[in-house]
Amino acid sequence: MIKNLIKKFLKLAGYEIRKIPSKINQSITDQARIDEAILTINYLRDKDLKYLSDAKLLELDLLPKLGLHNNWINQAPDEFYPFMGHGLYLWQYPNQFSKYLVHLSQFKIDTYLEIGVNQGGSFIMTTEYLKRFNKLKYAIAVDIKSFPIITEYRNMNPLVNYMLVDTRSAAFKELIKNHPGFDLVLIDGDHTEEGCRNDFEIIKDKANIFVLHDIVDDFLPGVRKVWNEIKGSYADEYVFFEYTDQYESAKRKYGSTRLGIGMAIRKSFLNVKM
Ligand SMILES: C[S@@+](CC[C@H](N)C(=O)[O-])C[C@H]1O[C@@H](n2cnc3c(N)ncnc32)[C@H](O)[C@@H]1O
Repeated sequence: MIKNLIKKFLKLAGYEIRKIPSKINQSITDQARIDEAILTINYLRDKDLKYLSDAKLLELDLLPKLGLHNNWINQAPDEFYPFMGHGLYLWQYPNQFSKYLVHLSQFKIDTYLEIGVNQGGSFIMTTEYLKRFNKLKYAIAVDIKSFPIITEYRNMNPLVNYMLVDTRSAAFKELIKNHPGFDLVLIDGDHTEEGCRNDFEIIKDKANIFVLHDIVDDFLPGVRKVWNEIKGSYADEYVFFEYTDQYESAKRKYGSTRLGIGMAIRKSFLNVKM
């Protein structure tokens, strides 16, 4: 009875009431998931450069079709439900990631490092995307946990290296210290303030472009804090760009701001264009 009254009230107040699907693709096996992801990668490989350069097409067509992660289903815009728990398991808002990718397509990016790849969503998409616009030499995926789809992707793309390592370890620090540097680094691993700062400190002298994910996420205040500090301290060295568009339906329903991509481009790299 009370539930019905609340429902009526919410409806009158303009809130759409829809049942959140609680079981999206949970029974899918690792192999079925890999098979689906490979089909998705092939679908992406069929797209031409004109299509891939159009942020609106990426946002409304390609990225949802490539499949979204279902980890944040309880906070997702309703229109995402059919795409969640499928394909590449992208952990990104299409309205943010599309604009970020198209911006990246303008630069000469030969080397890519992603810290925190999970099911491979943004790593596979970014690697495939950069490969189409650049002579990508290699892409390195780093995660503390092993995900079969990344192993499979490494087998089908010789440019890919997969490292199972904790970025807080001395081994990772040493590895990056001895590395000549990357054109692009995405930091999307440990989202605590300490974890995010640790990753930034390790890569800061080794990246022409570095990117933080979740810079406006209400659930991840540590990343927001680190990003704002960086903007305050490194304005002489970098130009900053932010992709933080929200989905009004989700914002109205849950009242929170989610994800957000912060990109810093070294001033000396701004003219290294395609
Ligand atoms: C939010 S997910 C990454 C999502 C992915 N970048 C995407 O957009 O699809 C965060 C990942 O970071 C990894 N991670 C967390 N702490 C880490 C650490 N200290 N070192 C390496 N990976 C870490 C987790 O295992 C998890 O898979």
